[in-house]
Amino acid sequence: MESISSFAISGLPKIIFGAGIFSDLHKIIRSYGHNALIITGGESFRKSGRLDALALQLDQFKIKYNFVSARSEPTAESIDAITREYRKLSVNVVVAIGGGSVIDCGKAVAAMLPEDGNVKDYLEGVGTRKLSGAKVPFIAVPTTAGTGSEATKNAVVCDRKEGYKKSLRHDAYMPDVAVVDPELTLTAPKQITIACGLDAITQLIESYTSIKANVFTDSLAFKALSFALQSLLPLSTDHRDDISLRGKMLYAALISGITLSHAGLGAVHGIAGPLGGLFPVPHGVACGKLLFPVMAHVVKKIIDEKNLTAQKRFADIGRLFTSGSGNEDIFYCERFLGVLRNWTEILKLPQLSHFGMTSADIEKVITLADCKNSPALLSKEEMGIILESIF
Ligand SMILES: [Fe+2]
Repeated sequence: MESISSFAISGLPKIIFGAGIFSDLHKIIRSYGHNALIITGGESFRKSGRLDALALQLDQFKIKYNFVSARSEPTAESIDAITREYRKLSVNVVVAIGGGSVIDCGKAVAAMLPEDGNVKDYLEGVGTRKLSGAKVPFIAVPTTAGTGSEATKNAVVCDRKEGYKKSLRHDAYMPDVAVVDPELTLTAPKQITIACGLDAITQLIESYTSIKANVFTDSLAFKALSFALQSLLPLSTDHRDDISLRGKMLYAALISGITLSHAGLGAVHGIAGPLGGLFPVPHGVACGKLLFPVMAHVVKKIIDEKNLTAQKRFADIGRLFTSGSGNEDIFYCERFLGVLRNWTEILKLPQLSHFGMTSADIEKVITLADCKNSPALLSKEEMGIILESIF
């Protein structure tokens, strides 16, 4: 009989999920004090009127607040600039309302407010200073269903000049509260909805097939994958206003953050990281483009290597994706790849050359890429072939 392997689960945010719960955000902010720093993203959310409504509620509750706009991926410079400005203002709580980049920005600012120095000093693989783990309480409010950053303990910081995307990571950086309201994702444009959805799906597939997967993350990831599968293609067509589908995809993204934090990721993210660090390829697009060719190589390897454990995991997903049963695992591994190939043909994400990358740049990406916790290790040559195929 199969036994349960050991695993450890660190803290999770207090998760408040439901359509319309954004209207209670001011009460949650109030529970942390009277001085809030609120980081927001694009114009679409501001135009929805929700920010004005929040400001009115904060005024009524006599909560002081400052709105800061973060329109691009967080850089070391942008985080340092916000931190310098607000360190002296005794902020009680940081709130980030936006996509994954905005939430990462808020998470990094909340972390850096009590620290000395610059964020670069503390980034994994870049800085040498040790994080204390102290932070200002942080509330994450996602407006896209993608990175799951509302439930992760790291913030990704980008420096395109030096070509890195690195994490500011500490167990204490898990958001204190995640306010997860599907209504907030209704204004996300179609291409962002698709790219973010593919990021969440990739994170769920990679954590389910990770060599660090465990019974806790498996059960979460599998159900979330079924929700994401029901939602991805309808949300890319004429069902974008379906709040039920939005809720399922937002739930899938939230869970993908929890599972990636506890089981890790694979080769898609191992290549997408440096790709996004060196070139302005949106993270969801990078994941969506890499998903089929990387998984095709990984599945071929686990079959060649007779890795039955990994074959079973990919077959589980293949069965889920195709509602099938009764055949061997290898059959469903192939079905799994068939679904990914089909998505590639239907969703038509832009090629990498669209983002200013040339074939001469492929070497730079693969030099920095790795396979993270993938059940099969890809060689640099294989990574080059994969990037050529989506260039
Ligand atoms: Fe991701």
